Amino acid sequence: MSDNKQSQGFSHEKIETNSLLMVVLIVLVIAIGGLIEIVPLFFQKSTTQPLEGVKPYTALQLAGRDIYVREGCYNCHSQMIRPFRSETLRYGHYSVAGEFVYDHPFQWGSKRTGPDLQRVGGKYSDEWHRVHLVNPRDLVPESNMPAYPWLEKDLVDANALPAHLKALRVTGVPYTDEEIAQSADAVRGKTELEALIAYLQNMGRALK
Ligand code: HEC
Repeated sequence: MSDNKQSQGFSHEKIETNSLLMVVLIVLVIAIGGLIEIVPLFFQKSTTQPLEGVKPYTALQLAGRDIYVREGCYNCHSQMIRPFRSETLRYGHYSVAGEFVYDHPFQWGSKRTGPDLQRVGGKYSDEWHRVHLVNPRDLVPESNMPAYPWLEKDLVDANALPAHLKALRVTGVPYTDEEIAQSADAVRGKTELEALIAYLQNMGRALK
C-alpha cells in the first residue's frame, strides 16, 4: 500500500498536506479557467464593436458624464439593465456590451437607491431634468435624492476637454483631430447642468 502511494508521486496526500503547493495549484487552476473565460471576449465583435447607433460622446455629453462621475450619481444609480422580465418591463431593453464600448470608465453597478438610468434618455424633457436636479422634491415629494443647485450656476471647465478627448482616443474612441480641436469651444459658456442633461438625454438611446 505505502509503496503504491510513493510511486504515484503527485498524490492527493502530498497536495493536501502541503499548503503552499495547494495554494500554487489553486491559483493555477483559477488563472487558467479565468483566462479561458475572459480572453475570448477581447476578440468578440459583440463586446468590442459599438452597437449600431452608439456614437462617441459629444464634447458637451462628455463634460456631463464627468459631472455625473464627480457627483457620485453612480452611488445610487446603476446603468445596467439585467435580462429579467421585471427589469425590462420597468426600464426597457436589457443592456448589451456593444453599448458601452466608448465608456471609460463604465457606470454599471448594482446599487439602486434610485432607479437604473440606462434608458432614461428621452423619458423626460430637459426642463423636467433641470427642476429635478436643482431640487428633486419639487417633482417627487418623497424623493431622497440630493439636490444639486450649484450645477445651474457653475460653468463647464472648457479647457479640460481637448486633453480628455485625446486620452479617450488612446483607448480607442474614434475622435478626429477636428473634434478634439473644437471641443473646448463646443462647451464654453455652458453650465454644468446643461452638460449633465445632455448626457442624461443621450442615455441608452440606441436600444430604445
Ligand atoms: C442618495 C441617492 C441618490 C443620488 C446620489 C442620486 N440620486 Fe437620482 N434618484 C434617487 C432616487 C431615490 C430617485 C427616485 C425619486 C426621484 O425621482 O427623485 C432618483 C431619480 C433620478 C432620476 C429620475 C429617474 C427616472 O427614471 O424617473 C434621474 C434622472 C436621476 N435620479 C439622476 C441623478 C443624477 C444625474 C445624479 C447625480 C448628480 C443622481 N441622480 C444622484 C437617488 C439618488
